[in-house]
Amino acid sequence: MEVLESIKTRRSIRKYRSAPVDDKAVQAVLEAGRWAPSWANTQCWRFIVVRDAKTKAALADTLFRGPGGFENPGITAVNTVPVLIVICAQMGKSGCNPHGETVTEKGDWYLFDTALAVQNMVLAAHSLGLGTVIIGAFDAPAAAAVLGVPEGYSLVTLFPLGVPDEAPKARPRKELSEIVFKDKFGA
Ligand SMILES: Cc1cc2nc3c(=O)[nH]c(=O)nc-3n(C[C@H](O)[C@H](O)[C@H](O)COP(=O)(O)O)c2cc1C
Repeated sequence: MEVLESIKTRRSIRKYRSAPVDDKAVQAVLEAGRWAPSWANTQCWRFIVVRDAKTKAALADTLFRGPGGFENPGITAVNTVPVLIVICAQMGKSGCNPHGETVTEKGDWYLFDTALAVQNMVLAAHSLGLGTVIIGAFDAPAAAAVLGVPEGYSLVTLFPLGVPDEAPKARPRKELSEIVFKDKFGA
C-alpha cells in the first residue's frame, strides 16, 4: 500500500478477529518502528511483544475504567487480540547530551521519538491488513510492573495488533484552513 493511502485509510481498531498474527508480520511491524528517525539517532525505544494471555489480561486491567466514569474503549481489544506491542523508552537519551542532561526547554524528547516509531508501526500494520489502536489512557507504572520494565525506562504506550473485525468510519479532521498559517501564527 502506498504511504499516503496508508496514512489516510488507517483507523483505530477496537474489535479483532481471533485469527493469529504470524511472527513474520510482527517482525515487519517492528522493523518499521526500528527505522523511525530519532534524536541524534539515539533510538531510545524498546519494544515488548506480548502473546501470553495472562499477561495481556493483566495489561488490560491497567486501562482506565472509572471511577471518573471514563472506561477505556480499548479494554476488550487489549484482552483479546493475538499480539500486543508495548513501547518503552530509555530515559536521558532523547533531547539529552552525552551526560544525560536535557538540552532544550522541552526536557526529554522520549515521547516524541517513540511516537514516531509507533506511527511507523501502525502504518506498517495497516499496510499489511492488520489493525491497531494506540493506548494512552492506562496506568503505565502498573503495566511496567507487570512486564518487569527496569529503572531508567518509561513504559510509554501499547497497541493491539490483529486482524480487524470492524471497519470504522474516519473520524473528522480539522480543515487545513483551521490549522495552517501563512508566515505568522494565526495569519
Ligand atoms: C496518544 C494517543 C493515545 C490514545 N489513547 C487511546 C486509548 O487509551 N484508548 C482508545 O480506545 N483509543 C486511544 N487512542 C486512539 C484515538 O482515540 C484515535 O486515534 C482518534 O480518535 C482518531 O481516530 P482514528 O485513529 O481512527 O483516526 C489514542 C491515540 C493517541 C494518538
